[in-house]
Amino acid sequence: MIPKLNLCCFILSFVFICLSAQYVPPNKNMCIISGSFRFKGDVSWYTVNLDLPPSKRWTDVITDKKNDMVSMIQAIRDLADAFVPSGKLIDLVDKDLPLMVDTLPYPFNEEIRGIASASGVSLGEVVLFNIFYEVFTVCTSLVAEDVNGNLIHARNLDFGLFMGWDLKNRSWIITEKLKPLVVNIDFRRNNQTVFKSTNFAGYVGMLTGIHPRSFTLTMNERFTLDGGYIGILEWILGKRDGMWMSFLTRSVLENATSYESAKALLSDTKLLAPAYFILGGNQPGQACIITRSRTHSINPLELDVKNGRWYVLETNYDHWKEPLFLDDRRTPAMKCMNQTTQADISIKTVYDVLSTKPVLNKLTTYTTLMEVSKGTLESYIRDCPNPCMPW
Ligand SMILES: *[C@@H]1O[C@H](CO)[C@@H](O)[C@H](O)[C@H]1NC(C)=O
Ligand SMILES: *[C@@H]1O[C@H](CO)[C@@H](O)[C@H](O)[C@H]1NC(C)=O
Ligand SMILES: *[C@@H]1O[C@H](CO)[C@@H](O)[C@H](O)[C@H]1NC(C)=O
Ligand SMILES: *[C@@H]1O[C@H](CO)[C@@H](O)[C@H](O)[C@H]1NC(C)=O
Repeated sequence: MIPKLNLCCFILSFVFICLSAQYVPPNKNMCIISGSFRFKGDVSWYTVNLDLPPSKRWTDVITDKKNDMVSMIQAIRDLADAFVPSGKLIDLVDKDLPLMVDTLPYPFNEEIRGIASASGVSLGEVVLFNIFYEVFTVCTSLVAEDVNGNLIHARNLDFGLFMGWDLKNRSWIITEKLKPLVVNIDFRRNNQTVFKSTNFAGYVGMLTGIHPRSFTLTMNERFTLDGGYIGILEWILGKRDGMWMSFLTRSVLENATSYESAKALLSDTKLLAPAYFILGGNQPGQACIITRSRTHSINPLELDVKNGRWYVLETNYDHWKEPLFLDDRRTPAMKCMNQTTQADISIKTVYDVLSTKPVLNKLTTYTTLMEVSKGTLESYIRDCPNPCMPW
């Protein structure tokens, strides 16, 4: 009967958090029409030089952000202590996770070591930090084609569900701690941009990125009951025949050179856990949602402008199924896209769609907007003014 009890706790905590957030259901005309897009990106840019040895690549970023990393790690420790007071969880981080770094593939293992030594944060904690995002992200991603055939790829990154609700501030503790860690990165080889991303300082995988003039890529979490995180558990226990999802996106951004080759890698590489990859190309009609099981791609959804599908949009549910009724960000996002129309789609109107509640919610950490033809990526740290859905 444990599953039933869990579901009950789950729903009760949803209700409780909703009440404390003073959540009011959105009214019918909720799409933001204009005006929220007022400021230029407030996220700083850093360069990561891929010609340096992996252990040295992140030094500039980490030197600037180490205090924020320490503060984030402290918040995770406090939560873990409150959750498992015996200290067992912390023991695991201090004793077992540092050993895991040796099992991770190059260059990720070396980069993580370099981040630990530059930040003064322990190796186990940096490993924790890097596994963390593989597990607790919920998001909205979309690629839209305008009437001239230009592709716009955008996403909200929502992170920190159940990571401590701050009653007084009506916010998620970890979400707030993450915001100062958001950085834009220009990855260079031979002093030329290879790809650009929006990232959290200290994290070596990729969730959002652009290979200028070739393709754009975002990843969203896929929760499935069977096979969900078994692969991660197997990895820890020694059976290691799949790739970490955000390591695959990083490898694709770094080493793939076209939409087609990126698509093949994202569709066919064996993974540790299911995921959604949202990929845009550089030609009209080139955008798709790749729904992944650990071994293969299921029912890919492509743009089909002739038949009215001028955008593809993914939250955290399979596109051929209804979203969970407690967490429907897809319907409001699509409604606002439809209301905007293809004739009016632009970076600015896409930002408005992603600013519509509950597409924007208390978990939303950043919004990123990418335009492949111009090679641009811009990102914004987000706040959701009250009343606002907790997720
Ligand atoms: C609550 O919000 C205030 C103002 O935004 C901030 O200064 C404070 O640090 C927050 N408290 C916590 C516990 O996050
Ligand atoms: C790298 O490129 C930038 C401009 O893109 C230039 O200012 C800089 O001098 C170059 N650095 C080296 C080492 O070539
Ligand atoms: C990309 O390819 C280069 C050359 O083969 C390799 O050294 C590098 O590790 C690869 N990058 C990733 C992230 O896999
Ligand atoms: C948006 O438009 C598409 C295509 O016409 C349609 O299939 C979909 O049901 C619409 N969604 C909403 C939420 O209005």
